[in-house]
Amino acid sequence: MAIPSAAPLPVDLSGIQLDAQQGLARQLYQALRERILDGRLQSRTRLPASRDLASLLGISRNTVIRAFDQLYAEGYIEGRIGAGTYVAELSGATRPTPVPQAPPTDTLQSAALQLLQSHHLNPPLSGAPRAFRVGVPAFDLFPFETWARLSARFWRKPSPARLGYGDPAGDWQLRELIAAYLRNSRGLHCDPTQIVVTNGAQQAISLCAQLLVTPGARVAVENPGYRAAGHALAIAGAQLCGVAVDDEGLDVPALALLEDCRLVYLTPSHQYPTGVTLSLARRLQLLEWAERHNGLIIEDDYDGEYRYSGTPLAPLAALDRQGRVLYVGTFCKIAFPALRLGYLVLPPSLAEAFARRRALDMRHSEIGTQAVMADFIAAGHFQRHIRRMRSAARARRDALLQGWPSEIAGCAPLPVVEAGLHLCVRVNSLARERELISAAEGVGVEISALSSYWLPGSATPEDQRAGLVLGFAAVPEAQIHEALAALRRAWQI
Ligand SMILES: Cc1ncc(COP(=O)(O)O)c(C=O)c1O
Repeated sequence: MAIPSAAPLPVDLSGIQLDAQQGLARQLYQALRERILDGRLQSRTRLPASRDLASLLGISRNTVIRAFDQLYAEGYIEGRIGAGTYVAELSGATRPTPVPQAPPTDTLQSAALQLLQSHHLNPPLSGAPRAFRVGVPAFDLFPFETWARLSARFWRKPSPARLGYGDPAGDWQLRELIAAYLRNSRGLHCDPTQIVVTNGAQQAISLCAQLLVTPGARVAVENPGYRAAGHALAIAGAQLCGVAVDDEGLDVPALALLEDCRLVYLTPSHQYPTGVTLSLARRLQLLEWAERHNGLIIEDDYDGEYRYSGTPLAPLAALDRQGRVLYVGTFCKIAFPALRLGYLVLPPSLAEAFARRRALDMRHSEIGTQAVMADFIAAGHFQRHIRRMRSAARARRDALLQGWPSEIAGCAPLPVVEAGLHLCVRVNSLARERELISAAEGVGVEISALSSYWLPGSATPEDQRAGLVLGFAAVPEAQIHEALAALRRAWQI
């Protein structure tokens, strides 16, 4: 149902098209309102009589009357049906402004909004995992039956004390268990009052950005590094300073040369994405740097549970004697990312402020997940699951290392992989990186480009930024073998 363009009407209503499958009165009301708002139907314009409009559109007069009634009730038209219906006088102040497609750029006041609009923020890949997705653990092994049982038990008779507004820092029982876990597994001695439960590591980093960054201040980040952390800091107003990463991790001597920089974000236990572990010498230098500059360190230990040989080095937070390290941990790499549960261990002087800031965002994390995780840890399932996940990740790592083609033109040999869920292999040029990744994509294999982890405008020559980042834990060995066979075909090896 449409009004022909040369319709015999006192006003031009051409282009109105009604779909008989949908509410006709509503569609007509919307079409007329749109024309009134954008000025195609000017104030005081007389609308056609309802009978004429109905016959032109091939709809019932009642339908037109219902649409007119709505416009009349909302003040878009006036006059009585029968005595002529007119578009109302809508002054500039009362005329509602139609919602623009995109706000004009000159009205954007907020630097954060501008950054979010101009930066290319690549969200993590979603959907069922595939080889070789980065950042995803073996969540096919999660004991969902146990989780469901604990969850049902909690929700069957939740204590009323836990159903009202809770502590913004998180469920006390969970915080006690996290503190005990960190003491035993990382040698990190902390009190539950220092812990703030978050929605994953990302929110922990974002909270640090919100509370520690003064707009315009310089903040050091690893380059290449975890871009989502850099984005969170930049949105808070930080001027990011990329610091190189070498075989010992973050180049602390280079950091020390940065003037007016008192905050650094890094991934010491398994640098993201290169996979290097920060050496003990560098750890001590970094703590010394913080002391000398009155600085703070955000230590992101996102995948610290995955260590395949030797004992892990003590986290910076365990070596910190001065309250200069904010430690970020997450359950998302041991359970599954969609769980959205992580935590911060804060210097005692900062804990209260962080909890208050979090209360402004979301009051606190949802109680069910926190309570079930607490029960999961208390009953020993968590420790068992960590062992299961570590051994699965090790087996999957071995499948990749053993099956990886040894002669790929332009590609360095695979590194030794002692930690984490991914590895990084250098490629000799950006062009070759693109070629290998797009051929892999063609056969359904996901490989991330090392070049995408660098800050824009990095001094490192383009070709030296190239490489392949491969997550090895996301899928079982059989799928890894299949993916490797597909890569051999795609890369003609
Ligand atoms: C280095 C690093 N930090 C933090 C995160 C975020 O983890 P979460 O899912 O707990 O927010 C990721 C996710 O991939 C990561 O790679």
